[in-house]
Amino acid sequence: MAKNKFFNRNVVSIRDFNSEDFSYLFDITDKIQTLKSKERGEIAKGLILGYVFYEYSTRTRLSFESAMASIGGRSLGISDVDSSSIMKGESYADTVKTISLYSDVVLVRHPSDGSSRYACEISDKPVINGGSGSEEHPTQAMLDIYTIFKEKKKIDGLSIGIIGDLKYGRTVYSLIYALSNFKVNIHLISPEILKIRDESIYDITNKVDMHNHVELSDELLNKLDVIYVTRIQRERFPDLQEYNKIQGLYTIDEKILAKSKSDISILHPLPRVDEISPSIDSTPNALYFKQASYGKELRAALLSSLLHEEPF
Ligand code: CP
Repeated sequence: MAKNKFFNRNVVSIRDFNSEDFSYLFDITDKIQTLKSKERGEIAKGLILGYVFYEYSTRTRLSFESAMASIGGRSLGISDVDSSSIMKGESYADTVKTISLYSDVVLVRHPSDGSSRYACEISDKPVINGGSGSEEHPTQAMLDIYTIFKEKKKIDGLSIGIIGDLKYGRTVYSLIYALSNFKVNIHLISPEILKIRDESIYDITNKVDMHNHVELSDELLNKLDVIYVTRIQRERFPDLQEYNKIQGLYTIDEKILAKSKSDISILHPLPRVDEISPSIDSTPNALYFKQASYGKELRAALLSSLLHEEPF
């Protein structure tokens, strides 16, 4: 087995990891599923995942909790800041410090860019970025590319469309950085006001074949092997009138599916609002719930690799 480069490491940006690291993690994710539950349950026995979520979450928090439980560990944390001493004015720094005293690995979600990097300065336990502002969501990207790899059996050579809110969607940035380690064609599809922030990807523009589009044209649909759909991030819009103008602009439905390659894979980090019609949920192309399920498996592998030099 390749060397574990995740041990005791902070997971703040996907940029800190490369294709070798992804291969290692995918391998551990697959292997951990083959362990007998008793053996799997020994991996994190006596260890604790601590977390604080300053923003709403369903999948990230619950999949991490479920992942930790599946390897025998426990989780504790703040899922609702209203029930914590943050409401008495306690600082982010003191909150992170306190959680790190009670746990072996710390998971944070916060609306500010840079919040996870800052948490690393405070915590002497490894920190996992569970979503920082509109900057990054690295473990989401890890499970996104794992899903693509599981379904397509490769990543190199694929044409991948990323559609929706490319300006504020933090999963988009982590995904593009992750994909920059592979030979892929990336098609970015968004209205002008939600275009990718060029300044956030300037350092990888020469590494990846990337194209911008406003329309999801038939010609483009014909090329795509994967389409990664994102929610318009209402909560990050400075002006809700602008949000109202573009909400519901792109909806992936049966009509779009009929014009696509028959084996197109549809991914979405979730939650969705109206950008994917539930009528396609039962098609073999709809991978978003499988993707969410892979999230638990991949995060179990990640936690095992952060907590032990030899995960099992
Ligand atoms: N994909 C994702 O981060 O979902 P949650 O916001 O529900 O955690």
